[in-house]
Amino acid sequence: MIIKTVNLETVCGITSTFPENILPEFAFAGKSNVGKSSLINALMNRKAYARTSAQPGKTQTVNFYNINDAFYYVDLPGYGYAKVSLQEKERWGKMIERYLHTSRQLRAVFLLVDIRHEPSANDKMMYEWMVYHGYAPVIIATKLDKIKRSQLQKQLKLIRSGLGLKGESLILPFSAETKQGREEIWALLEELMQE
Ligand code: GTP
Ligand code: MG
Repeated sequence: MIIKTVNLETVCGITSTFPENILPEFAFAGKSNVGKSSLINALMNRKAYARTSAQPGKTQTVNFYNINDAFYYVDLPGYGYAKVSLQEKERWGKMIERYLHTSRQLRAVFLLVDIRHEPSANDKMMYEWMVYHGYAPVIIATKLDKIKRSQLQKQLKLIRSGLGLKGESLILPFSAETKQGREEIWALLEELMQE
C-alpha cells in the first residue's frame, strides 16, 4: 500500500461524540501494551506518529488517523490495564464498546494479542463481545520478533484455543520491530476496502 498522507484528524475522549465519517474505518483493539499504536505506525509507514510507550495505558482516547483521504485507522485505548481504577477501566471499556457499537463506517475490527502469551480473560471477553455483536475480528498476534521461529505454530495454536477461534478464523503474526506481516495486513485492508 502506498501511504501518501497521514493525519490525526479526530481525538475522542470519554464524553466526546464520535465523528460521522464517510470514509471506511478500521479499528485496532487489544489489551494495554499489546502494540496497537506501534502497528498503526507501521501501517502508516511512520516511525512514531501515533504515540507509543513501554508503559501500558498510553492511548487513552479514540484516535482517528486519516490515511490518503481514503480511509481511517482507529487507535483504541487498551483494556485490562491494572494500574487505573476500576471506575476508569469501566469508562474506557464503555468508550471502546460505544465506538464499536455506533460507528457506521467500521469495515473491520482487528483484535491484537501478544504472541508470547495465552490470551487473557479480557482478551477472550473482548473477542466474544465482538462476535456476539456481529463482527468477525481479524486476530493479529503481535511481537513476533520475541519468539523463536520454532515456537510459532505452538503459539498460534495456543491463541486459537485460548480465544476459542473457529477453524477458518484468520490469525496474522506481526512484528513492529521487523515489520514482518505488514504486507499481509495491507493486502487484507485493500481487499476489505473493495467490499
Ligand atoms: P496502549 O496505548 O497503552 O493501550 O498500548 P498499545 O497497545 O498502543 O502499545 P504500544 O504500541 O504503545 O506498544 C507498547 C510497547 O510494546 C512499546 O514499548 C513498543 O515499542 C512495544 N512493542 C510494540 N510492538 C512490538 C513488537 O512487535 N515487537 C517488540 N519487540 N516490541 C513491540
Ligand atoms: Mg496505544
